[in-house]
Amino acid sequence: EESERTERIDAALAELGDDVVILGHNYQRREIVEHADFVGDSYQLSKEAAEADAEYVIFGGVTFMAESADIITDDDQTVILPSMEASCPMAGMAEALQVDAAWAEIAAAAPDDDIIPITYMNSYADLKAFCASQGGLVCTSSNAHRAFEWAFERGDKVLFLPDKHLGENTAHRLGMEDDIAEWDPWDPDGKDAEEVADSDIILWDGYCQVHERFRTDHIDRVRDEHPNARVVVHPECRREVVAAADRVGSTATICETVATADPGETWAIGTEIHLTNHLQRWHPEVNVLPLCGDACMDCNAMRQIDPNYLTWVLEELVAGRERNVIEVAPDEKELATVALDRMLDI
Ligand code: 13P
Ligand code: SF4
Repeated sequence: EESERTERIDAALAELGDDVVILGHNYQRREIVEHADFVGDSYQLSKEAAEADAEYVIFGGVTFMAESADIITDDDQTVILPSMEASCPMAGMAEALQVDAAWAEIAAAAPDDDIIPITYMNSYADLKAFCASQGGLVCTSSNAHRAFEWAFERGDKVLFLPDKHLGENTAHRLGMEDDIAEWDPWDPDGKDAEEVADSDIILWDGYCQVHERFRTDHIDRVRDEHPNARVVVHPECRREVVAAADRVGSTATICETVATADPGETWAIGTEIHLTNHLQRWHPEVNVLPLCGDACMDCNAMRQIDPNYLTWVLEELVAGRERNVIEVAPDEKELATVALDRMLDI
């Protein structure tokens, strides 16, 4: 029962005091967000983790976010992920070993060019480390364009991974949409060396299974049914969806769009359904609609953080036991720190 669980969480938090901070991504369930000390997008959460003093950082989010928190926090701080099953499928679409092998092929296709790899935050620590080792960095959806600019000041080409849609949307923002090659590591015909040689941006063929499901039909339907509606979408959506929307941005931008809307305005939200539901609750004066109507755009990875698991990890800490600790290997940590610091500096 929820009220009993809330009492147990509050009791554990009272016992743990300043030893614990809870960070929650915007896609977390209401029962997690309500207990979080800070709720935000990936970039904001990485900054909060860097500034946190608490001995334990409990991360309401997915593995790559908890790994980044472990990389950014001090060595004497411990990061805990309430469920070890919370893994973003997109992050799994660019395994460091696979990227390492592709890197040799891509470099061979453009032997005279300096290629800078940029990985989206939605990737594992070993890939972040790989990018740093090749002179690259990390970005989130809120600073991808600045990461591209940073890279083009230092090299000739960018390899962006894993999210081809964020890559394409960023290329478009920079006026480089005609300068793209795609690299599909799973398709023998998906690696065109000539195209790589001729293009300044090379996009790895990964995607978010939640955002890829949004279609321009959804936008057409919402505009038919609500003629005053405006549409805001996440840049992990397909290019044509972003082009048809009124606004695009990270989950923090989507929150701000609704927070600053006038009462009575209508906004349709093209992102994970839990955030849309939060925005409806947080801003009842704004008419907030899910862009997909009744079709549920639910992130299965984020959903793994069940409030019962949050209760469990907190009560275990009270009992002196650390459960579900996320710890990045020291050698990877050192390089991944470089990649994350480069992002935090831009
Ligand atoms: P934000 O960086 O916009 O919070 O997005 C994270 C994410 O996983 C989007 O699918
Ligand atoms: Fe990964 Fe997409 Fe879920 Fe974000 S919404 S955590 S990118 S699967």
